[in-house]
Amino acid sequence: MSHIDELLRTMTLTEKLGQLNLVTADRAITGPATDADIDAAIRAGKVGGVFNLWGREAISATQRLAREESRLRIPLLFGLDVLHGHRTIFPVPLAEAGAFDPDLWMRTARVAALEAAEDGVNLTFAPMLDVSRDPRWGRIVEGPGEDPLTASIFARAKIHGFQGDDLRSPAAIAATAKHFCGGGAATAGRDYASADISPRQLREIYLPPFRAAVLAGCAAIMPAFNCIDGAPMTAHVELLRHYLREELGFDGVVLSDYTAIGELIEHGVAGDRTEAAALALNAGVDMDMVSGVFLEHLPEALARGLVREDIIDAAVRRVLALKERLGLFDDPVRLVVSCAARTEAAQELARDCARRSIVLLTNRRILPIDKNLRRLAVIGPLADARMEMQGPWSAAGRPETCVTILEGLKAALPDCEVVHAEGVGLDRDDDCGVAGACELARRADLTVLCMGEAAYMSGEAACRATPDLPGAQQQLAQAVIATGTPNALLLVSGRPLMIGDLAESAGAIVATWFPGAMAGHAIADVLTGAFNPCARLPITWPRVTGQIPIFYAQRASGRPTDEANPFTSKYLDVAVTPLFPFGHGLSYGQASLENLRLDRERYFTGEDIGVSVDVICSEECARRETVFFFLHDRVASVARPIMELKRWRQIDLAPGERMTVSLTLGIEDLVFPGVELRPIVEPGAFDLFVGFSAAPETLLRASFSLLARPDAA
Ligand code: BGC
Repeated sequence: MSHIDELLRTMTLTEKLGQLNLVTADRAITGPATDADIDAAIRAGKVGGVFNLWGREAISATQRLAREESRLRIPLLFGLDVLHGHRTIFPVPLAEAGAFDPDLWMRTARVAALEAAEDGVNLTFAPMLDVSRDPRWGRIVEGPGEDPLTASIFARAKIHGFQGDDLRSPAAIAATAKHFCGGGAATAGRDYASADISPRQLREIYLPPFRAAVLAGCAAIMPAFNCIDGAPMTAHVELLRHYLREELGFDGVVLSDYTAIGELIEHGVAGDRTEAAALALNAGVDMDMVSGVFLEHLPEALARGLVREDIIDAAVRRVLALKERLGLFDDPVRLVVSCAARTEAAQELARDCARRSIVLLTNRRILPIDKNLRRLAVIGPLADARMEMQGPWSAAGRPETCVTILEGLKAALPDCEVVHAEGVGLDRDDDCGVAGACELARRADLTVLCMGEAAYMSGEAACRATPDLPGAQQQLAQAVIATGTPNALLLVSGRPLMIGDLAESAGAIVATWFPGAMAGHAIADVLTGAFNPCARLPITWPRVTGQIPIFYAQRASGRPTDEANPFTSKYLDVAVTPLFPFGHGLSYGQASLENLRLDRERYFTGEDIGVSVDVICSEECARRETVFFFLHDRVASVARPIMELKRWRQIDLAPGERMTVSLTLGIEDLVFPGVELRPIVEPGAFDLFVGFSAAPETLLRASFSLLARPDAA
């Protein structure tokens, strides 16, 4: 008999339900606070895991309660949201996604895992894999952007980074893929709101990242808060039980979101807490985060015949199996010793990751900063805003170690006089500092405007109906630009911001996002040209809020946009095109693409499709270039998106270098959910589009035909 079987045999019902109970220690507040006496509950065997707690001492003391003072001595899980670093804060996930570098994504997760493990954490509620096309949604910052392929590759990299090859290693932590699924499609970009997602969109957009997570061996999955088409994800039988458990064969732990099981009552699908507990358990949820309904109400649910004990046992078994996978029964505190060299390496990685995440959006010959610049004015409420650089979800970060933009620029330009004015507050309408800021700008050779959001304006419960520059920042920017001093506008944010006419009037625009601990140095590296920017947008950047949702992989209209024809798909008051397309991002110098070719014109289904394209770097400077490969199935039984990302390749080019990028597309790239939503491939004509972004006018095209195999029925 296995250890887990033995344990199960000896457990009382309360002890079983205790294993399913995940409680908050409230060191970080990530939902409504509780005043529960968790120590007493742990001693009584009523807790399976504690979250929002970190620090070796605190965790060891809490683990000791379970190991020494509870009857069965079952170790606890210790969870935390480690979204973009633990002690060392990396750029927010949306920013990091723009690096389009799976190895980097993996390495930052590995460092985060190590630091979290040092602090006693053995489970993280990350990665967040919500595909989102709505910058109003505050949580767009936590995920990899709009594209399901990017999200799937991000999922694999992050899970590998957190979990390593063996969860028993003390430096590995269990990952939780969240929020399964559709949070990013919340109505009107409002947190916790319901989503209407067609079965096709589920299959094409929202499920693939979770499938990738499961295939990557992700230890846990967290259902989303929202409901989809009337079914709250916390009780979604079709998706949790049939898709996740049965179709994908996921045998890890499904843990609810914060009080989400109790909220089934507010959703209107459970009459009371007993029904709520039964609905979630029966759908496949194993652990109850904070609601306490499993512990308190499953006994009654059993008595009422709403649940069966073997279902409870199966959930307990999965929780115990995770603890065993983590090696907690043998080594409940998993000692990882910290060392200064590692902290230093982590900071270097944070700097490198940040500069690989900073997107140069426009540049009218302003950047890089001239090495002989004499006087620089650094203006705006984010110029010297240490606390804000980390962005949301950075509970264990050390804001005091963050480098501000002002500090970074001063350090990088020792011979330049750097002056600074805040100008306006981050979110106040008070504009009395505008005149002073303009005065500084007038006397400078270059102005760097540091504008954007406070960290609290992105993340959970941080949706914005009008995601623009808050307070009087737009006014400040306009006034400073009007001084005529050359300027660069930095946008610090967790989402694309609507910046109105600044898009045209600013001399250069740089999306820094929330760059993390090494913000100032990384930004200075990019602005001075010490590092040639290479990040690309993982999300389409709208011109105005009314264009949302906006994304590159649209389906064609029967009346495609035609400026000359009013009866076509467009707006009267704004262009249909985004301000910046998916994949957009400039580097210093130029690059071009040429000579896209396929190894054949026709292929039988199942045959590899060989693709090559030449990338040419101009003479000015070396660069890292990202080449995107999109596919379009011209005629299919279900209209396919006008473009779907199938691959990207990153290459490093020396000045003047010409390089051929070659790759192979396989049958899996041509598959789509057919009329019945089952994966199919249909013969016919396909277009392959290759470019540096999804901007249609810039893409190279090659076409091929797919033929049914002659021997196929
Ligand atoms: C969030 C989750 C998070 C949890 C625990 C919730 O409010 O939706 O993403 O993991 O809190 O902190």
